[in-house]
Amino acid sequence: MNREAADRIIMAGSIFGNKGVDEDGAIASDGLIHDGALVVRGGRIVWVGQRADMAPEFRHLPVSDYGSRLITPSLIDCHTHLIYGGNRAREFEMRLNGASYEDVARAGGGILASVNATRAASASELLESALNRFDQMAGEGVGRIEVKSGYGLDLETELKMLRVARQLGRERPVHVHVTYLGAHAVPPEFAGRAGDYVDFVCTEVLPQIAREGLADAVDGFCETIGFDVALMERVFVTAHELGLPVKLHAEQLSNCGGAALAARFGALSADHLEYLDADGVAAMAESGTVAVLLPGAFYTIRETRVPPVDLLRAAGVPMALATDCNPGSSPMGSILLAMNMGCTLFGLTSLEALDGVTRHGAHALGLDETVGAIAPGARADLCVWNVSDPVELSYQFGFRPLHQRIFGGCDV
Ligand code: NIG
Ligand code: FE
Repeated sequence: MNREAADRIIMAGSIFGNKGVDEDGAIASDGLIHDGALVVRGGRIVWVGQRADMAPEFRHLPVSDYGSRLITPSLIDCHTHLIYGGNRAREFEMRLNGASYEDVARAGGGILASVNATRAASASELLESALNRFDQMAGEGVGRIEVKSGYGLDLETELKMLRVARQLGRERPVHVHVTYLGAHAVPPEFAGRAGDYVDFVCTEVLPQIAREGLADAVDGFCETIGFDVALMERVFVTAHELGLPVKLHAEQLSNCGGAALAARFGALSADHLEYLDADGVAAMAESGTVAVLLPGAFYTIRETRVPPVDLLRAAGVPMALATDCNPGSSPMGSILLAMNMGCTLFGLTSLEALDGVTRHGAHALGLDETVGAIAPGARADLCVWNVSDPVELSYQFGFRPLHQRIFGGCDV
């Protein structure tokens, strides 16, 4: 195990660089470099290409040779609700007996059930269960993760969740992006008073979160069982006043116009999108908002309408894929299964799926093109896989093909 970010050459049968064709033709049009090598210095990639083309100045460095294996950027899960108390196995049974996701929510279950359990849990309990879930994800190559709050809703529990999310990044070799999701559900103490709850979010919670630097973005659930466009707009106005970018759970169960609202605020992403229409697609294309597709939720709640992938593709809207790991609508910790489902259920190509958990996942987090890519200047956050072709990452599921994850040049 190399835990020091020692300068070295890393060789593999193929490297998925994610940068398309290079001027000198070293990177094939499928983004694959065969007989590849990359040079890591100070935790960053300084050179990548075919090993025969490596400059003599690097040849004295130690070599990690991974044989015929495939190297990709480490994977990005850009939409999770990783931190929560309890679980919602009973609701799974209710749905098996015919209840819908909305029926369960309206009966006081759903998100509010997790709110009760999360309020009751200590910070250390929340951290421990989130670390267990994260460790599963890391075992599939995740090196960057977004984590939302939204199961506290009161000030104290939201702050507790956000602090646990930050702590996660100190406990494990992973980049954590923290999102405040206050507008997730109307909590019991504000029942029937969604407007008053949004006032509380905007005047009390968001300013404190911004002051303490506890969140990197602000999210909401724009839906008939969540918040309407007018209420979400108030949250977004406040977020922008405080300098925080926004994103939105939009058009998951119905077409509420959430994606267009998100686009109007230059949102990083609009997520779910099963009920997105052509106008919403056009608005997202115009604003550069990333479409985050969440097939685990589609599968779990047995949705039958798929996101308009053809329209998104035609409009050039970048499509990311994520687990939506949460105790209700997507109790899934597998980013590789999300890739498989993105292909099989939503019609993505295997390369779109890989882009969705690398460079487009990075776009959805507001990061530039050096993240989720293997190119000079990028951090050496990599995965070495026991497969030789990127298609295999989407094609199989349940086999855990990761050989080695590398974080900032260190084996982890
Ligand atoms: O992304 N849609 C709203 N929020 C989550 C579900 C959370 C839950 O059911 O606990 C989602 O699907
Ligand atoms: Fe979600």
